[in-house]
Amino acid sequence: MNVRTAIDQRIAAALSTCTGVDSPALVQPARKPEFGDYQANGVMAAAKRLKTNPVELAAQVIDTVALDDIAARLETAGPGFINIFLSAEFLATSLDRKQPLVIQVDDPYTVVVDYSSPNLAKEMHVGHIRSTIIGDALALVLERLGHKVIRKNHVGDWGTQFGMLITYLSETGENSEVLEDLEDFYRAAKTRFDADAAFATRSRLAVVGLQGGDPEIRSHWRRFIDISLNHCQALYGRLGVSLSREDVHAESAYNDDLPTVIELLRKQGLLETSDGAQCVFLEEFKGKNDLPLPVIVQKSDGGYLYATTDLAAVRHRRNELKAQRVLYFTDARQALHFKQIFAVARKAGFADPAMSLEHHPFGNMLGKDGKPFKTREGGVLKLAELLDEAETRAFELVSEKNPDLAEDERREIARVVGIGAVKYADLSKNRTSDYHFDWDQMLAFEGNTAPYLQYAYTRVQSVFRRGNIDVDSLTGEITPQEPDERTLAVKLLRFQEVLEQVAADAYPHYLCTYLYELASQFMRFYEACPVLSAPGETRVSRLLLCERVAETLKNGLGLLGIETVERM
Ligand code: ARG
Repeated sequence: MNVRTAIDQRIAAALSTCTGVDSPALVQPARKPEFGDYQANGVMAAAKRLKTNPVELAAQVIDTVALDDIAARLETAGPGFINIFLSAEFLATSLDRKQPLVIQVDDPYTVVVDYSSPNLAKEMHVGHIRSTIIGDALALVLERLGHKVIRKNHVGDWGTQFGMLITYLSETGENSEVLEDLEDFYRAAKTRFDADAAFATRSRLAVVGLQGGDPEIRSHWRRFIDISLNHCQALYGRLGVSLSREDVHAESAYNDDLPTVIELLRKQGLLETSDGAQCVFLEEFKGKNDLPLPVIVQKSDGGYLYATTDLAAVRHRRNELKAQRVLYFTDARQALHFKQIFAVARKAGFADPAMSLEHHPFGNMLGKDGKPFKTREGGVLKLAELLDEAETRAFELVSEKNPDLAEDERREIARVVGIGAVKYADLSKNRTSDYHFDWDQMLAFEGNTAPYLQYAYTRVQSVFRRGNIDVDSLTGEITPQEPDERTLAVKLLRFQEVLEQVAADAYPHYLCTYLYELASQFMRFYEACPVLSAPGETRVSRLLLCERVAETLKNGLGLLGIETVERM
């Protein structure tokens, strides 16, 4: 359990003993050092309800609460706050290297994280980066906390576009070089489709053949999908994203379940025919002029839709995977789609009330000028090209700062810094807003950026190198003396709490903000407190503190899918 929750529960228990009713303790990290390390804000509201004096109630709670193992002292403050000062022993034991940096939660659950999920007809472009890296950060954090994480890459591999693509592919024969660039391939197929009516007809027939299971068409299709998935995997590899081929659960994999979905909806009286299509109408969804908005699940020609597949996916995730929680990461434009799917799934009993279905939307990626992110020529920027540019820019920077390092090492640092910068710039913003892509900002060594955090990590490593320190052989405790040292130690303790918040709200930027504050506090400590030249136990304590900071930075960045280097 994290420190804040532990204190919160104990104060809440004391509050309930003193008042005879349950009320929240509202424990938060203290806003200023003079208010201690944590503060409880819940006493005032409890006193108000019971019409007693809040300051007296706070004093009573302090007398009652059992916090000796955590806090050195508690004080009342202002109109009824309680300030909590952690004890030196608690700090020393909690930060001991023998303690795991992150503890597993007591109540792990099975959680499906549905992310990345590109449409395989085209090559991944910048629009896919947000879902991919935000989702991956969540998967990593949840897993680290001990939950059972099932990654689902719900790729689009079905539908009319594929008829055109496989027809074009069948004409180009066994020559797979044409598929080296999916974007070019798509464009060529589309041009042909628009210009040649016979080709268009063959394409439409191919869709029918594909859905009907024609072996030859299926084999062209499989070949195309395979090549497209290899493109995706190559990008995941470059981005350090933990999705593997086994996590792919394509839309087509639900095909056989779609008639069942329709049948189940029909049996429950949820289906209505509207213009020949099968629809579910729900009270809560009204469109223009207050007219009911349908969720279409089967077209008049018998074809199924994106929504039908998602309903089948909910069933599968509950029945087969036993998911207790499902997180979906797509852009905000799909918000209504997911609201409708979740509502229909609940109504139809595909998801039981205890199963948490959550769409976590994000805004668009915009250029520095606030317009949709495009190449200089105005086209869609391929993800691979974006990553190339990141590495090139980082290489120039690193070479400027460190002309003496061997080129190989500069290239490796540039890879880690460049890719890290792109990912971090995105992850560090509240995902619900649009995001402005800005090379200079993300590659800066100052401010809330990946290079700044990676640099802070190397600062610690350079202390160890200069002092010739073997951390494993250090024996002693972390016993902070100076204010900047203590603030740093208390900040380290909050790592667990922040990870739990990220997991609960699906906001990776909480972790970024935390790591940035940790790194900044480390820099302050490093200015104020000599490490290598400090005497005896102080030196050991500070070295151990440095080691915990480095571990926390490395682990924290790792959970965002970002690497570190030993020097830069
Ligand atoms: N393939 C979809 C797209 O590119 C995203 C899929 C998201 N996941 C889902 N279960 N619908 O927009």
